[in-house]
Amino acid sequence: MSISIGIHDLSFATTEFVLPHTALAEYNGTEIGKYHVGIGQQSMSVPAADEDIVTMAATAARPIIERNGKSRIRTVVFATESSIDQAKAGGVYVHSLLGLESACRVVELKQACYGATAALQFAIGLVRRDPAQQVLVIASDVSKYELDSPGEATQGAAAVAMLVGADPALLRIEEPSGLFTADVMDFWRPNYLTTALVDGQESINAYLQAVEGAWKDYAEQDGRSLEEFAAFVYHQPFTKMAYKAHRHLLNFNGYDTDKDAIEGALGQTTAYNNVIGNSYTASVYLGLAALLDQADDLTGRSIGFLSYGSGSVAEFFSGTVVAGYRERLRTEANQEAIARRKSVDYATYRELHEYTLPSDGGDHATPVQTTGPFRLAGINDHKRIYEAR
Ligand code: CAA
Repeated sequence: MSISIGIHDLSFATTEFVLPHTALAEYNGTEIGKYHVGIGQQSMSVPAADEDIVTMAATAARPIIERNGKSRIRTVVFATESSIDQAKAGGVYVHSLLGLESACRVVELKQACYGATAALQFAIGLVRRDPAQQVLVIASDVSKYELDSPGEATQGAAAVAMLVGADPALLRIEEPSGLFTADVMDFWRPNYLTTALVDGQESINAYLQAVEGAWKDYAEQDGRSLEEFAAFVYHQPFTKMAYKAHRHLLNFNGYDTDKDAIEGALGQTTAYNNVIGNSYTASVYLGLAALLDQADDLTGRSIGFLSYGSGSVAEFFSGTVVAGYRERLRTEANQEAIARRKSVDYATYRELHEYTLPSDGGDHATPVQTTGPFRLAGINDHKRIYEAR
């Protein structure tokens, strides 16, 4: 009998600040319905000057270490597409901030928003080799588009940390996976840019093609049928995209696209992404957190996941919810991570968007803005300096 492997614990963090879409709409003259209904976004998380993917990642992972200890973690996989260094893995800073054991491998993984799903699958492979070990998978991203561009309304930032191990307390991840890769230029960020480039309509079409391709392969690999899933968790660059994707999947399989049925299948996965915005690699796992936190008892039920990363790679896979999972949820902490953010006005958001760390090699302190447990204190001799409170 094969052993059960999956997500044992899940925790997330987001930023110090939040910009309501009403403020963006007021600034650029957009009818608010386009944001609230058209793309399905209420607000976006905005990082403080002393926050980045590392501080969010450490904040997300700390409660997992506090609850589960660190002695079994021999691998940390840090998935991101907003990396802070071309050589050093962001996870090494997190390893240090959390005081993890030195007998540990730490690596960074990238394929746009898909990276965390690759990390999860690689982690499962490691645990299968030695079920006594656990892998800390972290997805952390800041989504940033050019000011005044169409993508601006879909920005956001968050980190999700997941402990992957045998006999998981939350979700058993199953085989098979449906896989899909196609070389498309729908969304990308050259090394010399701090904001992403995107062909909006092309990216939506590429996502839908990837849903179709990943599902086709999933079916060919003898995966579950659509009717077996209690819910579907999609990557959510904006929450409306999950609805487009599910409608496409239903159409592709010859099903009616009943509005209420679609709402029932994924409505509860959008609550956190709706107010956080796009968190790239973390987005699909924020969807899982929202579902588990809100749904009636899902014990023994299967959940379908569609992870999409522009460029593009996608994977459809399933997980079954484990008995007793509700006692392990972090619903209150999750809601607090969202509620604790301070609302900023448009001018402050714009200032934060334009803020960049000095690159002259000097000794520079960052403004003290975040009140979270970890902060980016500054940069000195091109080295980022982090501190734990
Ligand atoms: N009330 C209600 N709805 C309204 C409205 C109003 N007053 N005004 C407009 N809308 C609707 C439109 O009808 C449209 O709905 P449909 O898509 O259902 O037709 C929706 O609001 C958006 O309107 P537009 O298409 O006119 O918006 P836009 O051209 O400004 O851009 C976008 C939308 C392409 C998503 C843009 O925000 C963008 O480029 N975002 C970044 C790219 C992205 O997120 N792509 C998603 C797939 S790629 C991916 O998933 C990877 C990733 O994370 C980036």
